[in-house]
Formats: sequence, structure tokens, C-alpha cells
Amino acid sequence: MPHPLPLLIDTDCGVDDALALAFAFRSPELSVEFITTVAGNVGVSHCTRNVLRIVRLLQPATPPVIARGAKRPLKKKLLTAPEVHGVDGFGGTTIRGTRFLPASLRVGRNAVKTILDACRQHGSRLTIVAVGPLTNLALAVKSNRRLLARAGRIITMGGAMRVPGNTGPVAEFNYFVDPEAADIVLNAGLPVTVIPLDVTEQCVLLAQDLRDVAVRTGSRLARAMVAVTRSYMKYHVRTEGFDGGYLHDPLAVAAVVDPGLLTTLPAQIRVECESPLTRGMTVATFSYGTRSSVFPRVAIGVDQARFKRFFLERIV
Ligand code: BDR
Ligand code: CA
Repeated sequence: MPHPLPLLIDTDCGVDDALALAFAFRSPELSVEFITTVAGNVGVSHCTRNVLRIVRLLQPATPPVIARGAKRPLKKKLLTAPEVHGVDGFGGTTIRGTRFLPASLRVGRNAVKTILDACRQHGSRLTIVAVGPLTNLALAVKSNRRLLARAGRIITMGGAMRVPGNTGPVAEFNYFVDPEAADIVLNAGLPVTVIPLDVTEQCVLLAQDLRDVAVRTGSRLARAMVAVTRSYMKYHVRTEGFDGGYLHDPLAVAAVVDPGLLTTLPAQIRVECESPLTRGMTVATFSYGTRSSVFPRVAIGVDQARFKRFFLERIV
């Protein structure tokens, strides 16, 4: 097998972020070398604590560099999502054996520096997967865009192109929380791929499917994920009528492991920052012309059955 691809995950670690981290660590094609945290689903202290709990659970042979990032969006007041992820980001669950956080893991204080150092170290081999608000990445653009542009790919979960939003009628949560940051990152001429609700909402993990994996394999990870996702699943029973949850953030990881799962098109995307009515809305102009290579690529289709099989095989 070729050398695993170095990965940096930037996360507002709530429930589906935890699934994405577990999926990434369990993917032999990837080497999760850096994790940076950002305020979003919960405050950044909870996000960082949740990352430590997941790393402790997974016990990777080479622990990643972890750094705490932005406490608040660039301009707007922070909005969190306790109704979806619980006040601690993990639905108040305890994961057996992770109450005491790994003292051996040091947490850096400068996510932006960590992101830029990762670009310097790995250049075009580095993939950044951003599954929270884009605050840290926008700060990295402001600090040293040319260095950030050395990364081979930046994948961001966010936006709602041709479907309704999940935070009000038109906006997706990550871009709603920090629309200024999203607009900067999507228009900085970086090699960005956007994974919007259009595809992530086609990818549902049913509670029963995860429980079946846990029972069949007895895997500690699968059992922990059943516990972490419990209240997230119940939220979807109340709001969507199914006992399960969307695999938003894991799909962004899958885009690195198996890009063939997704159909993408280039588009110029502006993010609404001014209007209180449409804050965070993504306005995409799909482009087929010669300038299309400077625009982000947007996922518009997904082989959801293949992805779900693939995800469930690895979450053990
Ligand atoms: C996104 O918002 C968060 O609640 C999820 O973790 C995901 O990154 C979905 O809109
Ligand atoms: Ca997230």
C-alpha cells in the first residue's frame, strides 16, 4: 500500500465529528497527524476535550498534534447547537475509560500556526478536512494565504446549494455560525472541495445499523459510538421522523479516502454575511468555463449505499 496521506482535521467536535474522527483513524489510507479545534457545535473547550476523549479511546500508535483554535467566529456572536449535540457536544454520555484524559497528550494553543506548520511540513501531500465553522482556516488565509495554498486539498463540510438549510430555512450550520470565514475560504483561490447538505443529508446512519455492528463485532469503538450518538439519534426522531442521524462530517473524510463516491462540479460560491434573514446562505454559480479551475468543487451527488457500507465496515 502507498504511504498513507497526512491529514489535518479541523473540528468543532460534536457527535458526527466524533464519527468522522473515528472513521479517519480507522482508514489505513490516511494518517491523522494534526487535529485543530474550533468553536461551533459547542464551545472550543468542550470541542478540545471531546477530541482528547476520542483520541484516548482510539489509542493511535502515533498520537496526533492537537491544538485549540478560535473561541468565536470572526465577527458574529457564537451560536452553538446543544439541542443537536448536547451541552457537552457528546449528548452528556460517558465513554468508558475516557473520563481521565490522556495526560501524555499536550494541547497546543495556536491552531492557525499548527495548520500553517502542517502545510510547510507536508506541502501538496497534506489534506485538510474542515468539519466545523471555517474560522481557523480564514485566520490562516489572513495570516499566510500562500503557505495555506501549498496544501493539496481542503475539504469543507458546509453549505446548502439546492436544498433547504438546517439552521433556518436557507443556511447550513457551519457556514451560518461564521459566514465571513466561509466566504473568505471559498474565495481565496485554494484547492477546496465543498461537501454540502445536498449530499450529506442523503447519508443517514440508522441507530439499529450501528447497534448491529456493535453487537456483531463486540468492538469497543462501535459500542462507544452507540453511546455517543444516542441523543443525536433521538433528536432526529423528533425533527425528521427517523431513528438515526446524518453522516455529515464522515462524508467529508470519505471524500479523501474514496473520491469516486462523489460527483463534483466547479462553482463560484458567495456566502451571505449581511442579511439577518439569509445569513450563511450559499449562493453558487456553477461554472463550466475556462476559469472553473480557480473555483471550489462542490459535491452534487453521492453513492450513499456504498458510503454507508464502507463506513460501517470501518467503525469497529
Ligand atoms: C454540520 O453542523 C454540525 O452540527 C455538524 O457537526 C456538521 O459539521 C452540519 O450542518
Ligand atoms: Ca462538525
